[in-house]
Amino acid sequence: MFKRLWLIAAILLPFGAAVAQEVPLQHVHTNINDVQSLQRGARDFMNYCSGCHSLRYLRYERMGKDLQIPLPLLKKNLMLTSKKPLDHILSAMPEADGVKWFGVAPPDLTLMSRYMGNDYIYSFLKGFYADKTRLWGVNNLYKPNVAMPFVLATLQGVQKPVYKSVTDPSGHTRMELVGVTPGTGGSMTPAQYDEFVTDITNFLNYTAEPIKAERRSLGVYVMLFLALFFVLTYLLKKEYWKDVH
Ligand code: HEC
Repeated sequence: MFKRLWLIAAILLPFGAAVAQEVPLQHVHTNINDVQSLQRGARDFMNYCSGCHSLRYLRYERMGKDLQIPLPLLKKNLMLTSKKPLDHILSAMPEADGVKWFGVAPPDLTLMSRYMGNDYIYSFLKGFYADKTRLWGVNNLYKPNVAMPFVLATLQGVQKPVYKSVTDPSGHTRMELVGVTPGTGGSMTPAQYDEFVTDITNFLNYTAEPIKAERRSLGVYVMLFLALFFVLTYLLKKEYWKDVH
């Protein structure tokens, strides 16, 4: 019995250690009601991401309506992968090519914000750093050995890894990745880049649940209705019980 416990502990220990090493995610403030941010996010997504990633559960027309983009503008600026507004937003790249070029097909991003959370997407886009041992010359703080090339390098510049030496209880010293230096050589300041990736994250938060903004505002009306209903019911109760007391 004890032997087995030891075995389980021995198997689980490395996982525990791996989790403990993870760099904490960076927090992002998204606002689903900020239509301008969503519009910028959509524009940037189409320009920088749609070459590889699809939003297969969203149609162009729906996106245009929700983001208040008139059809002619939508067609001219955002419909890069199709001519028909009712089409789903599919990447121009066939899945098989993705596997061939990157080893992994770029995942569909419609639901990524629900699957991994906004903080993850934001951190992931800020987590690329130079690593010569990798095929694309980059690695990622939040997704070790990432297969995605860093397509925003011209904007953020190149970040360098920061290591700290740690000695474990058995006396072994090793280098642990703890963060990155600010990017150099990019066209954006760190603040501008933060805003840029916030917009994309906000947009992916929208694609994961296009009805969210509407649901929230509906929620306010429901609460107001319930409050009013409570007052009416209370008055009615008073009226009924008047003769009893
Ligand atoms: C040149 C192709 C390419 C472009 C352009 C690209 N990606 Fe990717 N992306 C990939 C590949 C390949 C993966 C799979 C990475 C892996 O599993 O290691 C990926 C994975 C991801 C993931 C998931 C990471 C995870 O933890 O699984 C996110 C989020 C993502 N990309 C966001 C973006 C965003 C946002 C853009 C636009 C700014 C973008 N990508 C542009 C190829 C691309």
